[in-house]
Order: sequence, then structure tokens, then C-alpha cells
Amino acid sequence: MAYQNLISEIKENILYITINREKALNALNRDTLTELADVIAFANENADVRGVILTGAGEKAFVAGADIKEFSDYNAEQGEELARNGQHHVFNAIERSSKPFIAAINGFALGGGLELAMACHMRIAASHAKLGLPEVTLGLIPGYGGTQRLTQLVGKGKAIELITTAGMISAEEALKIGLVNHTVSQEDLIIKATEILNLVKQRAPLAVSAAIKSVNAAVNEVNGYDVEISEFGKCFETEDFKEGVSAFINKRKSLFKGR
Ligand code: CAA
Repeated sequence: MAYQNLISEIKENILYITINREKALNALNRDTLTELADVIAFANENADVRGVILTGAGEKAFVAGADIKEFSDYNAEQGEELARNGQHHVFNAIERSSKPFIAAINGFALGGGLELAMACHMRIAASHAKLGLPEVTLGLIPGYGGTQRLTQLVGKGKAIELITTAGMISAEEALKIGLVNHTVSQEDLIIKATEILNLVKQRAPLAVSAAIKSVNAAVNEVNGYDVEISEFGKCFETEDFKEGVSAFINKRKSLFKGR
């Protein structure tokens, strides 16, 4: 797949996506969002892709936010359209994907950049990374789901503090408050993300997808427990379930087929 602002490649069933606008600190302009929407749809539809790792080019920034230069003269209608479009085709599309997405945060994750990382199912930060939602410094609020997802991840009090102060926190602080799953050195960032997906790859694909859907439901839907019950029930109909139980009972390694 050839893109202007992204580099993407599949290695051993993992899709690696690098946002590649290093001079603009990988800020999300319209073209980048369109390309992201396209590559996410590809990941979702392609059975060879078992997980996705999303990172930014260089060592300075993961993504420094939405491209401020592009929306400087927007009105309310255009602002709403920007947020709705982005949320629908990129941020929600990642969160609702049946494949696990890991954000490998290689530097600044600010505004729309942190929102992109929070839409992913897991986050790993390089030790020098800085994270924050500085939109109020621009007279804005987060528009790509940040008010919701930050609250879900760190709780209401911390979320309000971070958003209203526009504070930037270190990777270590982000780990402490549960905003990221791990912090590692820059050199180990992609290695750690790959290790996690290599574990997930060995598990039953349909169960992994049911688990993501059910965990999402816990925070996004009132009836999350009902969704979990229904997804749990559906797992029993799969060949993978039968294979998994048979392998356990017969003390052998399971061979999942995703059916
Ligand atoms: N949009 C557009 N360009 C950006 C950008 C952004 N979000 N962030 C950085 N850049 C550009 C800079 O304009 C600069 O370009 P030029 O060389 O052409 O001037 C280049 O990237 C390098 O940036 P700096 O010179 O500013 O680098 P620095 O090391 O001095 O500072 C920084 C780094 C602290 C991350 C700083 O760039 C910064 O504060 N960026 C903006 C962060 C921000 O406010 N993000 C939120 C955006 S709004 C949003 O995301 C809305 C939403 O929720 C939908």
C-alpha cells in the first residue's frame, strides 16, 4: 500500500503503521486522516492481519495533535464536521476493530495524538514520551474522543485536571495513572509491542475479538454485561472453542483456525 503520509507493512501477520510527517511532528492533517481511515479499513478486512502497531516517524513525536494550521479559520459547523468525520472513520474504527491495536508512543502524544493512542486498545510509551491534551491552550477542547477516553482510562478527577490545565505528563507519570500499559526505552518500543501481539496471535482469534468487543461495551454501552454474556455464548459455537478445550484436556498445544 503506497501512501503519502504513512508507511505501512505487514510482517508475520502484524501490520505496522508509521505516521510519517516528521517535520510537522506527525500532526494529523486531513490527508493523513483519510489515509489512516483507509489503512484501518484494510486491517479490519484482511484476515492475514492479526494485530496492528501504530507509531510516529522519528524519535520526537508520536503525533503532536490535529494539524492546527489546517483548521485555523474553521467555523462551528466545520469544526463539528472535522471531529465527526475523524471520530467515525479513524478513532472509533480503531476502538471497534476486532484486531488489537497498540499505540507505540515514541515521543510527544498531544491533543489528537493522545486521542489516537487512547483509541488504540493498548499503549506503550518510550521513556522520553510526553503526553497531554493541550486543546484548551487553543481555545478548544479535545474533539477526537479525548474527554471520554481519558476519563475512562484515568478517572474523572485526573481527566479534568489534565484537560483543564493542559498539563503535559511524562511516560512514567502516565504509567502511574494507568494511561499507558508499559514504558520502555525507545529501542525496545516496537519490540515490546510486537511481543504482546505475538502472544495475542497464539490465542483464538474469535475469542480475542469477542473480548475486545465486550471490554469496549463495559465503558461505551449501558448494557455492557449483556454484550459480554452474548459474546461469551457465541464463543461456544466456534471450532476454536472446541479445539481449545480439546487441547487443554489432551495436554497439547492448540491450533486455532479463527472459525
Ligand atoms: N499542527 C500543525 N503543526 C504542528 C503541530 C500541530 N499540532 N505541532 C507541531 N507542528 C509543527 C510546528 O508548527 C513546526 O513547524 P514549522 O517548523 O513549520 O514551524 C514543527 O511542527 C516543529 O514544531 P515546534 O517548532 O513547535 O517544535 P518544539 O520542539 O518547539 O515544540 C511541541 C514541540 C511542544 C509539541 C509544539 O510543537 C506544540 O505545542 N505543538 C502543538 C501541540 C498541540 O497543541 N496539539 C493539539 C492540537 S489541537 C487538536 O488536536 C484538536 C483535536 O482534539 C481534534
